[in-house]
Amino acid sequence: MFALTGIDHRYGRTPVLAIDDWSAAAGEHWLLAGPSGSGKTTALHLLAGLCAPTAGRVSVGGVDLATLRGAALDRWRGRSVGLVPQRLHLVGALDVLDNLRLARYLAGLPDEPTRALLLLEAMGIDGLARRMPRQLSQGQAQRVAVARAVVNHPALLLADEPTANLDDAHAQATLLLLRAQAVHVGATLVVASHDARVRPLLPRVFTLPPRTVSA
Ligand SMILES: Nc1ncnc2c1ncn2[C@@H]1O[C@H](COP(=O)(O)OP(=O)(O)OP(=O)(O)O)[C@@H](O)[C@H]1O
Ligand SMILES: [Mg+2]
Repeated sequence: MFALTGIDHRYGRTPVLAIDDWSAAAGEHWLLAGPSGSGKTTALHLLAGLCAPTAGRVSVGGVDLATLRGAALDRWRGRSVGLVPQRLHLVGALDVLDNLRLARYLAGLPDEPTRALLLLEAMGIDGLARRMPRQLSQGQAQRVAVARAVVNHPALLLADEPTANLDDAHAQATLLLLRAQAVHVGATLVVASHDARVRPLLPRVFTLPPRTVSA
């Protein structure tokens, strides 16, 4: 479903990520492990087409991302990728339901408020539909971010440190939710995390080696 091949990513002259070959089949659930600074967020951004590798090839769902640019790349991402970012980036001026509707709008998909509400209901958070992001607890905001990531039925679901700042019960619930939603929409799932609690729930592991930081 995706393949990262011959990746060598640099910021300026500093190499930050090297992946010879990592590929996943459709519907697989992966943990992307590695210590802080090893390049997990960078790897997720490459898979989402949010940045292009300095060298190497990123292919998702049979599409070589280097062939997509600008609006076409944004449209592809909106329809194919669901990202739960490390900082959740819910739009503060919109309530929970409208944050979900915005994700559909940005992907050029028809507005279906009922469908968004049904999704919130299925995730047990329909009571939060009219809350503003500032009125949510961290765990509730995490669930809303998962809902927003799956509302367009992406083929690839990416979650960056989804259990950070959550207690054991909520960390477990968030992972089960990600896995269940990935199964529900038939998505390939990648969870980037250095949280040991995640490991037992995601048997396929790709580990990035530590990077020494040079100034
Ligand atoms: N925009 C940037 N410009 C320069 N260097 C960057 C930039 N973004 C990230 N880096 C560097 O790239 C390396 C990998 O960062 P990345 O955020 O991918 O790591 P990570 O594994 O996600 O870490 P964490 O577990 O702390 O989230 C780090 O050394 C970081 O300082
Ligand atoms: Mg990170």
